Amino acid sequence: MKIKNIAILTSGGDSPGMNSAIFGAFVACQDNDINLLGVLNGYDGLIDNDFIKVDYQLLAGRINRGGSILKSGRSKRFLKSNHFKNALINLKDNKIDALIIIGGDGSLKGAMKLRDNGINVICLPGTIDNDLNFTYTIGFDTATNNIVNAIDNISDSLSSFGYGAVIKIMGNQCTDLIDTVADAIHTNFLIKNKDFDINSLVKSIKANYDGNHLPPIVLVLEDSADIENLSKILQEKCKIQFRPHILGYIQRGGTPSAFDRRYAFTAGEYAVKSIIEKNYGSVIGLMGDKLVKKEIENCFKF
Ligand code: F6P
Repeated sequence: MKIKNIAILTSGGDSPGMNSAIFGAFVACQDNDINLLGVLNGYDGLIDNDFIKVDYQLLAGRINRGGSILKSGRSKRFLKSNHFKNALINLKDNKIDALIIIGGDGSLKGAMKLRDNGINVICLPGTIDNDLNFTYTIGFDTATNNIVNAIDNISDSLSSFGYGAVIKIMGNQCTDLIDTVADAIHTNFLIKNKDFDINSLVKSIKANYDGNHLPPIVLVLEDSADIENLSKILQEKCKIQFRPHILGYIQRGGTPSAFDRRYAFTAGEYAVKSIIEKNYGSVIGLMGDKLVKKEIENCFKF
């Protein structure tokens, strides 16, 4: 039987490139005479029957923006059986042949639940955290550059005043973002879990900063440390002013890099191709410079 209707949703933390993936899927659907329906607000849209037609009008001017055209969500209701049943009913009523899910590890778990209940799913790894078993997830490259650019701006003021900074970095439990940023800005001052040794951090800052070179920048993964308090302690012990910074959604937002656009677009196209070949149940992502398919179960790093 020919595939007629494909649905697509974005779920979890938005990641730059999600819109390019939607565009890639749209172009492949157009080429193969398939309707593409967008589900709004992640898994909540399946429960609430929020389906919209993906067309040029929806996409115009938004393909290369960050965030998600279809909005996103972290649905708690999806875990409850009555709501989950509604999601299955709505997929059936809308005659959806297959569903493309773009998101991180939580979203992939939702995809497994749908797959186990007879829904044809294909996933794309969309998260800035890089916490899935691919070389890169969609959005990681942009987020890394966003953070490096923000820290470069912060560094201009730090250098002018001789201050240090303590900067909180996203990544959930995955250290890929913080490690890559640390390499790019050349700092060794990293706090990645709660039991860090404050004395060795102070010792290392004192040994490395002579007042003339790059000011000390301490990167903190998520809530591994209270950055206000840590700044005060470092100020006291190192005799340099330390300014705490939370970059927040500056990390996740903004226009996707060329790398993420290209990656996401081709992955979106590939997802539709797989569906046409009746090849379901996998996650399509980059290994090295090639798009590969993996079983959902084999994609989790944590
Ligand atoms: O998964 C992406 C991410 O940005 C994580 O790095 C972070 O822990 C979390 O989402 C933040 O979520 P929220 O959008 O709820 O603040």
